Amino acid sequence: MKTVKFGLIGCGLMAREFASAAARWCHLNGDIPRPEIVGICSVVPAEMEWFKKNFPNDIKYAVTDYKELLNKDDIDAIYCAVPHNLHEQFYIDIINSGKALLGEKPFGIDKAANDKIMEAIKAHPEVFVRCCSEFPYYPAMQTMINWFKEGKFGKILEIHCGFNHCSDMDTQKPINWKRMVKFNGEYGCLGDLGIHTQHVPFRLGFKPKTVRAHFSNIVKERPDGKGGMVPCDTFDNCTIFATTLNADGDEIPMTFETKRMCPGSTNRWFFEIYGMDCSARFTSDDANAFYYTSSWGKEQSWNRIIIGYKPMLPTITGPIFEFGFTDAIQQQIAAFMLEMDGQEVPFGLFTPEETVMSHTMATAALKSHYNNTVEVLD
Ligand SMILES: NC(=O)c1ccc[n+]([C@@H]2O[C@H](COP(=O)([O-])OP(=O)(O)OC[C@H]3O[C@@H](n4cnc5c(N)ncnc54)[C@H](O)[C@@H]3O)[C@@H](O)[C@H]2O)c1
Repeated sequence: MKTVKFGLIGCGLMAREFASAAARWCHLNGDIPRPEIVGICSVVPAEMEWFKKNFPNDIKYAVTDYKELLNKDDIDAIYCAVPHNLHEQFYIDIINSGKALLGEKPFGIDKAANDKIMEAIKAHPEVFVRCCSEFPYYPAMQTMINWFKEGKFGKILEIHCGFNHCSDMDTQKPINWKRMVKFNGEYGCLGDLGIHTQHVPFRLGFKPKTVRAHFSNIVKERPDGKGGMVPCDTFDNCTIFATTLNADGDEIPMTFETKRMCPGSTNRWFFEIYGMDCSARFTSDDANAFYYTSSWGKEQSWNRIIIGYKPMLPTITGPIFEFGFTDAIQQQIAAFMLEMDGQEVPFGLFTPEETVMSHTMATAALKSHYNNTVEVLD
C-alpha cells in the first residue's frame, strides 16, 4: 500500500478528525493510499500536544510557521484547516510549493480571495487540489445520488438543501472566530455552512440560475469569555431561494438553508429532491435511512428505508451496522487519496471550479439581500 506524507496546518477540531481517520486506515478494505502525518503546524503550541501524544513515531516536524512545512521534501500533501481569513495566503503558498492540497471550506473568505486561489491553481495545473465536504458520503445519501443517476425520480420538480445548527440559540455561548466577520467573512453562516449544502446539487448538475436571499443577524453581541460582552457581527441565518434548470429545461425552485439558529437542529444536514416519478429526503438526524415515495395511482406514500453501513468505499464493518460522522470524514479523505492517485471514484470531492460557483452564488446572495433584488447568474 502506498503512503502519502501529510502536513497538517491548523491543529483544531477538523485537524484532529483528519488524524483520527488516518490512524484507522485498516478500516478501509481497498488498496487506498494511506495518509501518514509527518508534520503539524499551529500557532498555539499546546494544541500540538494531542498529535504528539497520539502519533509519537510519525510526527517529525511540529512548527508554528506553516512555511516550514512547505519547505520539506518529505511532505507530499497538506490538509489545511485554519480560519477563513487565512485561506487565501495559505492555500496560494501551499499550491505554489507544489504540494497537493485538501483545503477546508469556504475556500477563501470571499469571492476576491477565491479568485486569487484559483489563479494559483491555474498557474499550477500539476497540483492536485480539492475542498472538503463529507456529508454526501453517508451511505443513505449515496444511495439517493445513485437513484438520481439511474433516473428514478423522473422529471425533477424541486430541490431543498440545508445545514442547520441550534447551539447559537444559547445567547450565553461565548464568541469565537466563526462569529466575527473579520475572521469568518461577510457571508457569515453561509460561508461556514454553504458548501456542505451545495456539493450534491452542484455535482448532479443543478447550477443556480437566479438567486433571492435573506440573511438575519439575530444575536448582535455575545460573551467574550472573560466576563464582558463583544459585538457578534456575523449573519446567523441565511435562506437562498434559487432557481435552476431540470433536465427538460424547466426552471424549478432550489433552496439552500444555512442557519445557526434553527430550533432542534444539533447538526442537521439535509437534502430533498422532489420528482414526478419519485421523491426522496435525507437528513443527518436519521443518518442511516432515507425517505422516498411510492406512487399508488393518484396518491403517493412516504416510506423509510434503512440503508445501514454500505459506504461508497468498502470497509470491514458489516452492512447491518450504523454509519456516522467520523466514517463520513474517513470516506471523504479516502476519496481524496484515490482521486489524487488518478483513480476515479463514484462521487468525488468538491472541486476548485465548484468553489467558484459557491462564491458566485454567495456573493449574489449578499447583493440580493442588501438590495432586495433577484440576481441572475450566468
Ligand atoms: N468539514 C467540516 O465539517 C468542517 C467543520 C468545522 C470547520 N471546518 C473548517 O475547517 C477550518 C478550521 O476550522 P476548525 O473548526 O478546525 O477551527 P479551529 O478553531 O478548531 O482550528 C483552527 C486552527 O487554526 C490554527 N491557526 C490559526 N492561525 C494560524 C496560523 N497563522 N498558522 C497556523 N495555524 C493557525 C489554530 O491554532 C487552530 O489550530 C475552517 O475553514 C472551517 O470552515 C470544516
